[in-house]
Amino acid sequence: MLIKRTKKSDLKESQLTSESLYKDRRNIIKGLGLAAITLPFVKPASAALFDVFSDNKDEGDLLFKRTPLSFTKNPKYQSLSTLTPEDKILKYNNFYEFGLDKGDPFEYSQQFEVDPWALTIDGLVDKPITLNYEDLLKKFEIEERLYRMRCVEAWSMNIPWLGFTLATLLKEAGVKSDAKFVRFETLYDPLQMRGQTSRFIGGGINFPYVEGLTIEEAMNPLVLLSVGLYGKTLAPQNGAPIRLVVPWKYGFKSIKSIVKITLTDKAPVTTWQSIGPDEYGFYANVNPRVDHPRWSQKNEKIIAEGNVFQQKRKKTLMFNGYEEEVAHLYKGMDLLRNF
Ligand code: MTE
Repeated sequence: MLIKRTKKSDLKESQLTSESLYKDRRNIIKGLGLAAITLPFVKPASAALFDVFSDNKDEGDLLFKRTPLSFTKNPKYQSLSTLTPEDKILKYNNFYEFGLDKGDPFEYSQQFEVDPWALTIDGLVDKPITLNYEDLLKKFEIEERLYRMRCVEAWSMNIPWLGFTLATLLKEAGVKSDAKFVRFETLYDPLQMRGQTSRFIGGGINFPYVEGLTIEEAMNPLVLLSVGLYGKTLAPQNGAPIRLVVPWKYGFKSIKSIVKITLTDKAPVTTWQSIGPDEYGFYANVNPRVDHPRWSQKNEKIIAEGNVFQQKRKKTLMFNGYEEEVAHLYKGMDLLRNF
């Protein structure tokens, strides 16, 4: 079977976001004066080139190769009763570097190069470190943890991540006492990431994508640097070769394809904060009591087998169900203002 080079209108329903959310994200773009985002979908030259190959090769040759990883199961995080089907985790994505629609990251990232890779840890550390691709997979012991993921768009998944804690890496670099925040940055490579070539494809984001955590959040043992899921290395659409996973925060904090981690004494300005500060705060903790200005956060659609539009909903939990492990980080803080 060939990888079908689809037009947006050909994508399966399961690969598309719901119409209301599609419009919501586009409202932000409109706010930026970029109404032309709704122009018909245009394929970049590189995709056309890919079309030529797809006539001669079958799907297996064109899909990114994921390698099985050795890992131990962390018993503390094995208790989720159902997992989101792997196919949904691989094909229902947000990764604006590859396009705005849920099917774009899968469709446009299969040729993404992850080796060689360089991840630098710098700033207020005793010993700056650069990890290459092999280091990412071999330097630290890899464990599996089943975590809930709640997107700010009010849908959720249960994902079996593979990775190591961010704290392990930061301790290796040595955190200086004046470090108060951690800033993360995604790869900037317009030759590989079509969303970075055009404001219309990449949603008007000023790339590279940037995220941040306080140092206390970053050192919390729940925070993972993930290098895989469902037993294998990450696919590009999920943020290969390494991404952040912060399960008590909305999914947009979990930045993908990271090349730089910088410890700093100033709060970094994050991508979504800079696009819509009234809608996306620095903390972005999952909180059913704080609605998004344009939709409720009280419940969420569970992404499962079948048609995304018909799926069940469930109540959203405070801190996405991780209250016991993280509520102390926000003691005394007004979470209505610090959203
Ligand atoms: N990281 C980068 N660099 N670019 C993005 O567009 N999207 C975020 C986050 N990380 C995004 C990103 C959002 S909105 C979500 S919900 C999650 O990735 C989705 O992760 P998944 O596609 O692996 O489920």
